[in-house]
Amino acid sequence: MLSSIEWNKGKPKILDQLLLPHKTAYVVSANYKETGEAIRSMKIRGAPAIGVAAAFAMAQAASASKAKSAAALERDLLKAAAFLKATRPTAVNLAWAVDHMLGVLKKMVYAKLPRIVQGLTEAALELKEEDARQCAAIGRAGAELIRDGDRVLTHCNTGALATAGIGTALGAITTAWDSGKKISVWVDETRPYLQGARLTAFELAHAKIPHSLITDSTAALLMSKKMVDLVIVGADRITARGDVANKIGTYGLAILAKEHGIPFYVAAPLSSVDFAMKDGSEIPIEERPATEVLNVNGKPIAPAGTKALHYGFDVTPHRYISAIITESGVFRAPFENSMKSAII
Ligand code: MRU
Repeated sequence: MLSSIEWNKGKPKILDQLLLPHKTAYVVSANYKETGEAIRSMKIRGAPAIGVAAAFAMAQAASASKAKSAAALERDLLKAAAFLKATRPTAVNLAWAVDHMLGVLKKMVYAKLPRIVQGLTEAALELKEEDARQCAAIGRAGAELIRDGDRVLTHCNTGALATAGIGTALGAITTAWDSGKKISVWVDETRPYLQGARLTAFELAHAKIPHSLITDSTAALLMSKKMVDLVIVGADRITARGDVANKIGTYGLAILAKEHGIPFYVAAPLSSVDFAMKDGSEIPIEERPATEVLNVNGKPIAPAGTKALHYGFDVTPHRYISAIITESGVFRAPFENSMKSAII
C-alpha cells in the first residue's frame, strides 16, 4: 500500500490524499508551517498519521531554528507546538506527538545544539516506526474478533493512509483477510470528505478484499436485514472511561449496532487515549468550513446562500462500545480499569 508520509532529506514527503483515488502525488513541505497546513487542509489525515506529521514538523522547526541556546530553541519549539496543535484539535495523537517531541527536547537540554536537532529528528522517525509496530499489534488483536465469513461494516478511513503502518480498524480487517478468513466489508462513504469512498475503497481494492460502498444512511437498513455481523471503527480520542471521538456518523452507527445486537469495536493505539479526560463531552470537536458540505468536487450542491454546519467528529459514549482494541490487547468494560492497567 502507498505510504502516507516519509522523511525525505530532512523534509516530510506527504501523499496528497485530497487527490486520491484518481491521482497519486506527493508534496514535500519546506518548513513546519507548510507541514501544519498539509494537516489542516487534510492532505494528510487520520489520527496516527497526523501525529507522525506533527512530530516531523517539530523536527523541521528545530533544524530551521536560528537559536543559539537550548532555552531559545525551546521557545521556538513552543511556538511551533502551539501552531501545530491548533491545526486539528480533536485527534489527541497530534498533541501527544508534539508534547512527546517537547519532552525529548527537555531531556537533551544539556547537549550541544546540533545534537539536540539530530535527536529530535531521530525521535520523530522512531515515533513513525513505533506507529507501524502498534498498527501491526492492533491488527493481530482485532483480527481475532473477526470470524470467517463475517460481513464487517466500517466508517471513514483507518488504514495505511491514516497511519504509518497497516492501519487500525482497517488493519484488523486486512489482517483477518490475510489469515485466510473470507470476509467482506461494507464501506460507509463518509460524508462530506468521502474518506470511505475515496480512501477505504481504494485500500480494500488494493488488498483484493470484497467490499461494497454504501451511503452513510444505508447502515440501518443493512443491520435490520441482518446483513452486518460487526462494526469496527478507529478513534481520534478516547477518554479514560472509554468515550470515543471519531469521524462524524460514528455515534449513530454505535446506537444502531446496539439496537440490533451487533458488536461495535473501536481500534486505536493507546496514544489515542486521553487519560486526563474522563467525560466525552470535554473533547474539543473540530468544526470545519461549511463549504466542504455545500460542495462536491468543487461544485455547489445547494442553492446559493444555503448555510451548513460541519462538525468533523462526534462522541460515542462508552456504553455502546463492545471492546477497545489496542496494541496492548483487547479491553472490555469497565474501560477505566482495563485500559489504565495497560499503562501502569
Ligand atoms: O478527518 P479525518 O479523516 O482525519 O478523520 C479520521 C478518522 O476519524 C479516523 O477514524 C481516525 O482518525 C482513526 S485513523 C486510524
